[in-house]
Amino acid sequence: MKLLIFTFVGVVHLLSLGSGKAIHKASTPQKTFKEIQEEIAGYTDVAKAIINLAVYGRAQNRSYERLAHLVDTVGPRLSGSKNLEEAIQLTYQSLKDSGLENVHLEPVKVPHWERGEESAMMVKPRLYKMAILGLGSSIGTPAEGITAEVLVVNSFDELQRRAIEAKGKIVVYNQPYISYATSVKYRVQGAVEAAKVGALASLIRSVASFSIYSPHTGNQKYQDGVTKIPTACITVEDAEMMSRIASHGTTIVVNLKMGAVNYPDTDSFNTVAEITGSRHPEQIVLVSGHLDSWDVGQGAMDDGGGAFISWEALSLIKDLGLRPKRTLRLVLWTAEEQGGVGASQYYQLHKVNISQYSLVMESDAGTYLPTGLQFTGSDKARSIMEEVMSLLRPLNITQVFTKGEGEDINFWIQAGVPGASLLDDLNKYFFFHHSHGDTMTALDPKQMNVAAAVWAVVSYVVADLDEMLPR
Ligand SMILES: *[C@@H]1O[C@H](CO)[C@@H](O)[C@H](O)[C@H]1NC(C)=O
Ligand SMILES: *[C@@H]1O[C@H](CO)[C@@H](O)[C@H](O)[C@H]1NC(C)=O
Ligand SMILES: *[C@@H]1O[C@H](CO)[C@@H](O)[C@H](O)[C@H]1NC(C)=O
Ligand SMILES: [Zn+2]
Repeated sequence: MKLLIFTFVGVVHLLSLGSGKAIHKASTPQKTFKEIQEEIAGYTDVAKAIINLAVYGRAQNRSYERLAHLVDTVGPRLSGSKNLEEAIQLTYQSLKDSGLENVHLEPVKVPHWERGEESAMMVKPRLYKMAILGLGSSIGTPAEGITAEVLVVNSFDELQRRAIEAKGKIVVYNQPYISYATSVKYRVQGAVEAAKVGALASLIRSVASFSIYSPHTGNQKYQDGVTKIPTACITVEDAEMMSRIASHGTTIVVNLKMGAVNYPDTDSFNTVAEITGSRHPEQIVLVSGHLDSWDVGQGAMDDGGGAFISWEALSLIKDLGLRPKRTLRLVLWTAEEQGGVGASQYYQLHKVNISQYSLVMESDAGTYLPTGLQFTGSDKARSIMEEVMSLLRPLNITQVFTKGEGEDINFWIQAGVPGASLLDDLNKYFFFHHSHGDTMTALDPKQMNVAAAVWAVVSYVVADLDEMLPR
């Protein structure tokens, strides 16, 4: 997960007044809500069969084991890296071997950034080596590094108030962790804001809800017309320490060295597999997660888990000999972390068929114990999703929340396609997010089984209903 964006409801309403409506005329709903309710109730036994297979039966732990096999072999999968392309090829082959249909790779161009060697040494008031991780797309420093006095601020407001002090310094942000969605702006815009007031570099307190001295990387963005300065994240511990030292009026000096380089875009692929629809093969329910990750840890949680429960959803449906009326399309996106790069190119290529997309789904916020489904769509579609989720009563996971979203599916949601994301217990997610700690150890196979069951029931039933979800 790169960004959580919580503001789609308004956008979708606006758009539904425009093009979305006209496109959807082709398939005007015929059924009453009561008829749809009865139709969905007819899936009670299918839902139980999926749950039994995924949670208690022979498919249990399969998504965890498949994922472990990949990430233990390949490791992390940064956009532009050989690792990512190896993972894509191995996954493509495994999807074929698992008997899914229309398995193919769709070429896209993705950013290629490498962090290189990097270090940060506090040289005053004492010599102390800090853990850092450069932020994605950051430029490097000169070979000897940048040695400068530090200005610690707790917010962008404080930076503005103390703008005159920032010139020629390294700005350290010690913003509190409020929530990922609120606090991530320091990571994304911290360098630009520091550069605007004449800083030479910026160090950002990791956007993490808990820390045992772990830097958490992620993407950052430069702005046209603003000087590019090197930027990295530091640990919560070091940000707080430098804040304490500075509060006593003591001068802090840091030497920052970063070997980061931005190379030209490289070739990559979105990975696609299907269960082709029996009656409306041209109509799509899209189930997805992203295969790329940051270059630390194993990218097991973000988003190996989401990608592999999405694959598992199709496997469960196939194992039960089910074939929905519409096509279930699995897409494992590439270069999500750089801003939904693979997904954006997929959208440009496939949006010509937007009227054929019933539902787009993405799991990119953990595969811990699910709380329910986040959904964005019309009130009518929401009522249908509530009926679908009631099929998960055996797992007591029936809630439908607002704000269905995902970096990779937001393109479709903003254009009026109903969208769903998995909401799970996020308690631990930001302990590990984008850090060396994002390994298989952060995942629980039993929770992944439950997440896969929810994902499979929702995607199968929506793909098999007589009618597409209304917009
Ligand atoms: C699935 O994983 C859990 C947790 O590691 C373990 O207790 C259980 O025995 C595993 N089930 C199977 C069938 O391997
Ligand atoms: C659009 O849908 C048609 C009909 O299913 C299909 O033949 C065509 O390949 C699709 N185009 C794209 C770009 O996905
Ligand atoms: C079912 O889930 C609800 C809401 O998530 C929770 O309040 C309730 O305690 C759960 N019931 C059982 C039997 O687990
Ligand atoms: Zn992710």
